[in-house]
Amino acid sequence: MDLKLKDKVVVICGAAGKEGSIGETILSRLVDEGAIPAIIDRNDRGYQYAEKIQKKGIDALFCKTDVTKPEEIENAIRTIAEKYGRIDVVLNNVGVNDGVGLDASYEEFMQSLKLNMVSYFLIVKHALPFLKKSKGNILNIGSKVALTGQGRTSGYAASKGGVLALTREWAVDLVPFGIRSNAIIIAESWTPSYDSWIKTLPNGEAKLKSIVKKIPLENRMTETLEIADTCLFTISERSSHTTGQFIFVDGGYVHLDRALLTEQ
Ligand SMILES: NC(=O)c1ccc[n+]([C@@H]2O[C@H](COP(=O)([O-])OP(=O)(O)OC[C@H]3O[C@@H](n4cnc5c(N)ncnc54)[C@H](O)[C@@H]3O)[C@@H](O)[C@H]2O)c1
Repeated sequence: MDLKLKDKVVVICGAAGKEGSIGETILSRLVDEGAIPAIIDRNDRGYQYAEKIQKKGIDALFCKTDVTKPEEIENAIRTIAEKYGRIDVVLNNVGVNDGVGLDASYEEFMQSLKLNMVSYFLIVKHALPFLKKSKGNILNIGSKVALTGQGRTSGYAASKGGVLALTREWAVDLVPFGIRSNAIIIAESWTPSYDSWIKTLPNGEAKLKSIVKKIPLENRMTETLEIADTCLFTISERSSHTTGQFIFVDGGYVHLDRALLTEQ
């Protein structure tokens, strides 16, 4: 199936993570399809990624940006718009499960909201004039934490809850412009950040085993490629009548009958 993403300008935020992260995997699938990625991230790795893509003969741009700084987001979108004159898709993937819990300060909580939710608002806000022209679409990366809670992570949970609300709000708000807005919800996916988190736990290996056996479909974690391919389909015109949807790529983790849980 041709997704017809060739030459589409896709703003992807949070795509300069380590190889094997969700953003980096989506980035490489976009390149496979011939899309032009405009990466927004604070990590310098983005320069290498953009250079590598350009060597393949595909245009790419990296805008080094701390997304907790509103003026940096505005600059990034301006730079992208000046270079390409268009934006077809905004794919918001930035997110850090930062453990800002009830014991955190007001400032820490607000900082978590800025990173994990307010950045989504600002990117869409500044890209909107271009999305209106291109009849583009928005895809937000959500988390099961918005729906199930996790414990000790109020900032991230509130943000990801807000991201789902914004996904639906924008779907309604932007109907008159033919702009679609959807979210992909992830539960457990093995990424370098996940690996780092497991390593911080006293019984990391045991914890990992107990998580994996609770994932109904095949008792395994979701592969980043499975997430990336669903993202690509959703942003493509092959999904042209899908809007306001929360699409779960989670092996049944959030919704399926608990009777499926593997016994000890
Ligand atoms: N891995 C999972 O199991 C899982 C589960 C649910 C949701 N998610 C969501 O998927 C997305 C990607 O997750 P991942 O595991 O690949 O994470 P990751 O840590 O690899 O990616 C986060 C990216 O955000 C960037 N970033 C962090 N702070 C920034 C800032 N202030 N300014 C600009 N960029 C910043 C990082 O450089 C990195 O590229 C996130 O939204 C995450 O919440 C992941």
